[in-house]
Amino acid sequence: MQNKILKLLYNAKNYVSGQQISDSLGVSRQAVNKAVRALRDKGFKIESATNKGYLLTGTPSFLCEEAVKLYLNTKLIGRNLTVLDSVDSTNDYLKKLGSKGAESGTVVLAREQTAGKGRLGRVWHTKKDDGIALSLLLRPELAPTEITSITPLSGLAVCRAINDFCMLDSRIKWPNDIIIGNKKLVGILTEMSAEFDKVDYTVTGIGINVGHTVFPEEIAHKATSILLETGRHIDRNKLVASVLEHLEQELVLNRCLLSGEALSDYQNLCATIGRQVTFMRSNRSISGMAVSISNSGELEVMLSNGTIVTVNSGEVTVQGIY
Ligand code: BTN
Repeated sequence: MQNKILKLLYNAKNYVSGQQISDSLGVSRQAVNKAVRALRDKGFKIESATNKGYLLTGTPSFLCEEAVKLYLNTKLIGRNLTVLDSVDSTNDYLKKLGSKGAESGTVVLAREQTAGKGRLGRVWHTKKDDGIALSLLLRPELAPTEITSITPLSGLAVCRAINDFCMLDSRIKWPNDIIIGNKKLVGILTEMSAEFDKVDYTVTGIGINVGHTVFPEEIAHKATSILLETGRHIDRNKLVASVLEHLEQELVLNRCLLSGEALSDYQNLCATIGRQVTFMRSNRSISGMAVSISNSGELEVMLSNGTIVTVNSGEVTVQGIY
């Protein structure tokens, strides 16, 4: 009922009488009062005036389930959505839900992570209300070898959401970082649970630096945040809704596979292409020019002798970017 009251007040953009709310939801006036009090306790600003009713004048600045749901316009992604105050890692939390049968599209967000994980065993810092930690569970009907498109499609979705919502010019550093200039704004980590020939579920974790003004010393030179880039405090609940909408667009509509259109969109936003890159192969360091992305999301690199090699994961150093 709280979600429905919020929708009514949000859409009205004006006072709505208690009677009108109780009539349209088919509940008592007392129940409406109680729900409004609960919403105020959660951080919503709802004014009440005699003979006028209720007016929504503010939403929480921190991540809040009801606020994300208020803005969300998706069919599958986020239908089941939870915001935690604090958790070790949203990916680990969601993997446990996944093994208990959580539905495809389930989303877990956290205001703080105490043991956030990055790629290649690194730590991902999410101090309370600084960043957004978001994990999405999917059950794609794919073989384990086919899920390589999930990370690039997620990168494309997040990059678009950030550019649309924050009016920034972020780009993708293959395979899964979102950068501004040469600094990292977002990291993405996809994990999977699968049997030999079938994926049970995937969990894609997205960490967005939102309100950071300082970073731990070891990453300070190569990390940035939305606040540092725009000078503005954005509405993080609206940003999450936009990210989830773009994720639905890219992942659900493309059935988790890189379509021709998604691939060309990804390449247009990919800052790695056209740069000199270095990667390891059989214990040797190899350099070449990143020329394109394959339709399964691998980086295609042209060596100095003209041969093209594909790189599918691991560490790639890109000249000019951290
Ligand atoms: C990277 O760039 O190395 C990937 C970082 C992924 C961080 C996100 S935050 C939400 C989710 N939970 C985690 O523990 N990690 C991912």
